[in-house]
Amino acid sequence: MTTEAIRVEDFYEPAVFRRIKDLADTKETPFVVIDTETVGRHYDQLVGQFPFARIHYAVKANPAEELITLLRDRGANFDIASIYELDKVMNLGVAAERCIFGNTIKKARDIRAFYERGVRMFATDSEADLRNIAKAAPGSRVYVRILTEGTHTADWPLSRKFGCQTDMALDLMILARDLGLEPYGVSFHVGSQQRDIGAWDAAIGKVKIMFERLREEVGIELKMINLGGGFPANYIAKTNDLETYASEIIRFLKEDFGEELPEIILEPGRSLIANAGVLVSEVVLISRKSRTALQRWVFTDVGKFSGLIETLDEAIKYPIYTEKKGEVEEVVIAGPTCDSADIMYENYKYGLPLNLAIGDRLYWFSTGAYTTSYSAVEFNGFPPLKSYYI
Ligand SMILES: Cc1ncc(COP(=O)(O)O)c(C=O)c1O
Repeated sequence: MTTEAIRVEDFYEPAVFRRIKDLADTKETPFVVIDTETVGRHYDQLVGQFPFARIHYAVKANPAEELITLLRDRGANFDIASIYELDKVMNLGVAAERCIFGNTIKKARDIRAFYERGVRMFATDSEADLRNIAKAAPGSRVYVRILTEGTHTADWPLSRKFGCQTDMALDLMILARDLGLEPYGVSFHVGSQQRDIGAWDAAIGKVKIMFERLREEVGIELKMINLGGGFPANYIAKTNDLETYASEIIRFLKEDFGEELPEIILEPGRSLIANAGVLVSEVVLISRKSRTALQRWVFTDVGKFSGLIETLDEAIKYPIYTEKKGEVEEVVIAGPTCDSADIMYENYKYGLPLNLAIGDRLYWFSTGAYTTSYSAVEFNGFPPLKSYYI
């Protein structure tokens, strides 16, 4: 069982939590508060750990203007998933050269729109997509996304849907050249919230083989490795710290590529934003399912459809904090909609204090990323999750 052990200071600096709480106390639930200074600090830390890398913020993690402009001003680049994200980012004054189209699944007309706006770097993992890029974005740089291991050690795996086997990736880079594109590099994503740093080692090993084979067999010199996201945020289960991730990943890179590294791109989302946020919800109802049931059901005014979709299969286990203290008891935690899928935690046993009451607030820690943008627009009439930026 958890939560009796959730302590604010394990997740937030006291001053940061105080700022968040002061704002939260003036608002009606549910909502997320994001401390932008924390985002800036995380960005600076990442730059400090990987001074040679180009950092492209994965906008999908949280597309708030407040965050895009903050990262824009700090010199970040952007990993873009759709034409809508591109328009948003460019309307905020980001130049096209700072954007890459990182989604391998895209319409030809959207590729064209990216090209017309000035984007010249595209991800791909299939022949059909590559041919679309060659037509709609002639002469552009392309990087190929490869499949990686690590599905079982990432809290939110991404590997199966995207990427292709390295043999196919080699063919695609050769085809890219033949189609007049610039075969530029290789990307992978080892899975979001990847707990096993070794996942990067295996992936970088594959990339090295690709670099060598393309150079030796067909004279193509790749120039870039995109290491994706997957860097950790702070949830219930602890991870290594960013410093350890960085030193290990740099060691893997140097082992395979020596001191003269190719261009390195990182695409962080979760690790920059998650721990800057606190989602605040209110207990709507507490009930038991029988006279003798040992478990209470705690229903809150936020659920799977209002920002907590990453609780699917209980994948992401957010630390849940309450100001009530005392003896705790096992609970099932569920959302407010009339959908029985709207249960966040049932198998993993959260504990909440016995004196928790209807109307009390729950503070969901590390909810800055992948919450607001996932929230449904009107399911059961509930409005999208609100967010406030300090
Ligand atoms: C292509 C790509 N890059 C980067 C990210 C961000 O990953 P993370 O949030 O693990 O940092 C994602 C997440 O879905 C992605 O799809």
